[in-house]
Amino acid sequence: MKKTVMISLLVGASLFAADYSGVIEKPNASKIIKDDLLAKATVYAMPEGCITTDKDAIARGAYIFHNLNSKQAGQKPPKGIDIKDSDTKQYGNCVACHNIEKAQGGGNIGPDLTRYKAMFMDSGVRDHQFVFQKIADPRIDNQNTHMTINLTTKLFTTKEICEITSYVISTK
Ligand code: HEC
Repeated sequence: MKKTVMISLLVGASLFAADYSGVIEKPNASKIIKDDLLAKATVYAMPEGCITTDKDAIARGAYIFHNLNSKQAGQKPPKGIDIKDSDTKQYGNCVACHNIEKAQGGGNIGPDLTRYKAMFMDSGVRDHQFVFQKIADPRIDNQNTHMTINLTTKLFTTKEICEITSYVISTK
């Protein structure tokens, strides 16, 4: 009895077996690989008015620097950060690799950016353009960099790169 039921079920199933070939995805692998390739290292000229001492802009730069996303941040994003996508948007999480003032668990894969203004800017070792370019696309400075690429990948806008740069070089 059991056997008959099984067989009739199998026969029934095969009668209904549809032709799924039309819905099976046949992705174009070479297109996907091409789309996934990183755009090549790009030089960016820092736009005029990029560096600012505006408190809100620096707060946005700090927020992007210190957080991976707003959930992990556990605080409301500062004024001017798009609240709509702030739950899903990925921020800079620069602290994964860099220590800086007030960093929680600042990483040491990248150089310590504490007292950056005094150490690197006032001493003349770096200028605004260098820091802007480094954050926008660090491959121009070091083609084997382990740092994230932020502007060429469109992870952030030019305005956001300016705000992050302004934060890094600010007195904290
Ligand atoms: C995965 C690790 C990693 C992440 C994430 C990362 N960096 Fe870096 N960063 C580095 C490394 C490594 C260097 C050292 C130079 C190099 O290899 O490019 C560096 C160098 C820098 C420098 C240059 C310091 C100097 O004057 O020599 C700045 C500024 C900087 N990072 C800012 C940032 C900011 C802002 C973010 C977040 C948007 C960030 N980094 C995210 C690894 C990282």
